[in-house]
Amino acid sequence: MIIAIGNDHTSVEYKNEISKYIEEKYHYEVANYGTDSTERFHYPKSGKAVAEAVASGRADKGIVICGTGIGIGITANKVKGIRCAICSEPYSAKLSREHNNTNVLAFGSRVVGLELAKMIVDEWLNAEYEGGRHQTRLDMIANIEDHGEC
Ligand code: RB5
Repeated sequence: MIIAIGNDHTSVEYKNEISKYIEEKYHYEVANYGTDSTERFHYPKSGKAVAEAVASGRADKGIVICGTGIGIGITANKVKGIRCAICSEPYSAKLSREHNNTNVLAFGSRVVGLELAKMIVDEWLNAEYEGGRHQTRLDMIANIEDHGEC
């Protein structure tokens, strides 16, 4: 399992801590697509890089982190095939996997504490997509992406 991770200047510490957490707890490979500097960095660059790594199959899933999670999450969702959930609690993260088959998770380093972020990551990594009735809706979303309508 390869997890692509990306961040902006607000979230270097979170990126490092979450990467270490995933490597140590899950023994997954974490690929860094974010900045390692606290100099101002435009989050669309790393959001796009993570999303493209996932969409191309170079990574299995992605995690993107900025101040709120919103800008980098919106960015990830612009890449075809990406379903990114911006989460500030674990329940939505879990359901986003089970119902929406999300392949990228976003959260904000200025919104959630580090321990809560780890819980969000845990729920998201451990949940499985349920398929079934949910696939109809995901197909409709994909149709919007491909044809501009459901
Ligand atoms: C950076 O100041 C901030 O705008 C960014 O980290 C993020 O919160 C955007 O959505």
